[in-house]
Amino acid sequence: MKLGFIGAGKMASAIVTGILSNKIVSADDVFISDLHQEKVDQLHADLGLNVAQSNSDLIKQSDLIVIAVGPGAAVQVLSDNKDLINSKKTVVSIAAGLEVSKIEARLNANTPVIRLMPNINVIVKEAGIALTSNEYVSDDALKEVKALFNSVGTVYELPESQFDIFTAISGSSPAYAYLFVDSIARAAVKNGMNKDLANDIASQAVLGSAKMIRDTKEEPWTLINNVSSPGGTTVAGLVNLEDNGFISTVIKGIDATIEKSNDLKK
Ligand SMILES: NC(=O)c1ccc[n+]([C@@H]2O[C@H](COP(=O)([O-])OP(=O)(O)OC[C@H]3O[C@@H](n4cnc5c(N)ncnc54)[C@H](OP(=O)(O)O)[C@@H]3O)[C@@H](O)[C@H]2O)c1
Repeated sequence: MKLGFIGAGKMASAIVTGILSNKIVSADDVFISDLHQEKVDQLHADLGLNVAQSNSDLIKQSDLIVIAVGPGAAVQVLSDNKDLINSKKTVVSIAAGLEVSKIEARLNANTPVIRLMPNINVIVKEAGIALTSNEYVSDDALKEVKALFNSVGTVYELPESQFDIFTAISGSSPAYAYLFVDSIARAAVKNGMNKDLANDIASQAVLGSAKMIRDTKEEPWTLINNVSSPGGTTVAGLVNLEDNGFISTVIKGIDATIEKSNDLKK
């Protein structure tokens, strides 16, 4: 299966680098195009993939067409190349907020469409990636796209109605996780530790704790209980965090994220 990326920005570069380093697909089978020649030339030099002469040249050569440009450019590219996209090709969009129906509206009827919502953690191959598709996508194409994107993170197949929730807890939450790590490290600085060392220790603690939840499949509360000795230091800190509304503060932050995304759609 030939894979084409329209747009060679931050996301496409990270995804293509991850996919090729995991040898999920050969560089000979990957095409890329961008308005900026220097970006595609750099990816060709680094990864050996093919540089397409234009978006239409890329579309002609690809079975899976990954749209990795901004939402406005995405609808323009699709409209401009509608006649080249037949029902044997699958359009895979990562454009934030661009619904499947809006993509379908630019294409011929029955065109297979997959919408993905990745996050910036594709760079470290630990992204959360939501996936939804229309009824014209073949089992083979769906399997291929899941395998490609599972190589740079974890794919969650979701109804499109849950994409806004997903975007808040996966797309925006890296910023909240950085804030949490920074706050822990800052507390260490306040108590006399060097910030670089504190950042390293705090991020390792968060990384290991996330891995515990994923590997053990335990409820987070069970793991909290496991590290809270009676009358101990951890429970003292937990009670203080909750006195200051930790849980409700986080929930309000996620609510505000979802609300903003609804506002932007109007
Ligand atoms: N960055 C994230 O964390 C993130 C997360 C989830 C989803 N997304 C989505 O992923 C998509 C790409 O994001 P990004 O961060 O990689 O953006 P980016 O770094 O700006 O890359 C997009 C690239 O595509 C180029 N481009 C624009 N119009 C084009 C066209 N008609 N044909 C070919 N290339 C074109 C852009 O050139 P110009 O700079 O000249 O426009 C730029 O080089 C966006 O739709 C975004 O919503 C991003």
